[in-house]
Amino acid sequence: MRAPRTSRGPPAVLLMLLLAVGCTGGYKPVIIVHGIFDGPKQFENLSMFIKKQRDLNVVSKTVKRSVLPPKDKHQTHKTNSKGPSMEPWGTPKKVHPGTEVPIISLYNYKCSLKPLWVQVQDFRKAIEDTMKKFPEGVHLLCFSQAVTVAVITTSADLDNVESVAGGLICRAVLSTSPNHNVHTFISLSSPLAGQYGDPHHRAGYLRSNTFLPLVNGEKPHKFITDWRENVLRIKKMVLIGGPDDGVITPWQSSHYGFYDTNEDVVEMRNQEFYKNDTFGLKTLDARGDVSVCVQSGVEHTHWHSNFTVFTNCIEKWLI
Ligand SMILES: *[C@@H]1O[C@H](CO)[C@@H](O)[C@H](O)[C@H]1NC(C)=O
Ligand SMILES: *[C@@H]1O[C@H](CO)[C@@H](O)[C@H](O)[C@H]1NC(C)=O
Ligand SMILES: *[C@@H]1O[C@H](CO)[C@@H](O)[C@H](O)[C@H]1NC(C)=O
Repeated sequence: MRAPRTSRGPPAVLLMLLLAVGCTGGYKPVIIVHGIFDGPKQFENLSMFIKKQRDLNVVSKTVKRSVLPPKDKHQTHKTNSKGPSMEPWGTPKKVHPGTEVPIISLYNYKCSLKPLWVQVQDFRKAIEDTMKKFPEGVHLLCFSQAVTVAVITTSADLDNVESVAGGLICRAVLSTSPNHNVHTFISLSSPLAGQYGDPHHRAGYLRSNTFLPLVNGEKPHKFITDWRENVLRIKKMVLIGGPDDGVITPWQSSHYGFYDTNEDVVEMRNQEFYKNDTFGLKTLDARGDVSVCVQSGVEHTHWHSNFTVFTNCIEKWLI
């Protein structure tokens, strides 16, 4: 266990090895939570992107490290001429556990119509169990398919406005988990500020919706301060969406924008929940930790399979 081989190589080799491991060994796993009517199968491509990219990065960073201009040219040149062995860190899967991409498999497909707080409880349990295995932290990537949202919010039965999908389940999990170790929360096309229908039933929304107004802190409740603190434990919030989504309405809801009563879209920073900082969004933004990524040409069901979206909006945060 004590690296019996250290005495064999010059210190430079050791140093490079440590650097390489330190740099590539720290990838955090990405927990994926799907949306309504989705299941884990839909995310096979995304988890493949993540795994492949990480494997490639390990190799390319390793190569870069091994040709870094040395402080002591002489010595490192010698080292290089011996040929830096790729083996210790050239087999990425062994080097860093961060290639793990657990997809939470709960409430798949039609089961995702269960009351949201019931789902949140179970998702929280599953996510917490996963987080415990990775004390260094995890990333949480949540996708929302808002089909049900549309159904529910246009329904007259406002008691059933238990709206709204994967990204919101994740927000509720973050809010209600005092010990979570989520580093980056990535919301992939989720109706974070609600969905079409809400502004016309504003009073009903606040009265009857037992989910979003609580998570948004738009309706007072006794956990509001605790929930806000829990949300602020994250290091980064990444909001992804775009105008050609076709399902999230308004699409700006993926970035916390929403209609006013004239159906003009009010952007995140002019929303009351932002200005009042009811759940920490303003604080996160002031910290510089809210990243918005707008991509055109992506339909709702393609967000998680589009490699350009992955490289433009997701990849750089999965450290
Ligand atoms: C995954 O990618 C393949 C090849 O591009 C595509 O045919 C398939 O539909 C994708 N899967 C999903 C769930 O989007
Ligand atoms: C924001 O604060 C104002 C003034 O205290 C209050 O009237 C309003 O209801 C709050 N709105 C939200 C969404 O918290
Ligand atoms: C993939 O995303 C890019 C923008 O990020 C978009 O231009 C392109 O149309 C998308 N392709 C598909 C098949 O969704």
